[in-house]
Amino acid sequence: MYALTPPCLRVTFIADVQELGVIGSFDLVVAAYLLNYAQTKEQLLLMCQTIYNNLKPGGRFVTVNDNNEQPPDSFLATAKYGFIKSISEPLAEGTPIKFTFFVDGEEFSFDNYYLSRDTYEWAFQTAGFKQVRWQKPLLSPDALKQESQEFWQDFLNYPPLVGIECVK
Ligand SMILES: C[S@@+](CC[C@H](N)C(=O)[O-])C[C@H]1O[C@@H](n2cnc3c(N)ncnc32)[C@H](O)[C@@H]1O
Repeated sequence: MYALTPPCLRVTFIADVQELGVIGSFDLVVAAYLLNYAQTKEQLLLMCQTIYNNLKPGGRFVTVNDNNEQPPDSFLATAKYGFIKSISEPLAEGTPIKFTFFVDGEEFSFDNYYLSRDTYEWAFQTAGFKQVRWQKPLLSPDALKQESQEFWQDFLNYPPLVGIECVK
């Protein structure tokens, strides 16, 4: 987990978010691909509680996460963007999702864990968040300058990631 402190935008790396406790009262907490490391709903709730407890009233949690609603039969469609996902068993709470990245002729893999959208909603609500908004990826003008709409269409049809904004 990373916390940004305006106006200087100091970035602090913090170890295990589940054991962090309260270290401040922030306007904004940002996490990129953090929640999808929770293997159980209890771990997810601990992460969400820590984040909630470190926000001011009205503060925001903004995150990019694995899209738990991407259908597994579309997991190979992202190969042209440099990565794929794979599973060795049907998706259920806690199922590992293997990410494999292809970079400069090399590849590397790591696991995230599937928890359903309902479980995420439960964790956000139980932690105390008042508003939760899920945002599908959108194409920026720059993306369209680099590649055609057709190139990006699979990404838009089967988004591998999702943005989430929660308000305390
Ligand atoms: C895919 S990386 C993203 C790294 C970075 N946020 C970025 O965008 O470049 C996910 C990060 O989450 C961290 N992470 C996983 N579980 C965590 C936990 N319980 N507490 C804190 N960080 C965790 C991993 O160590 C990893 O650095």
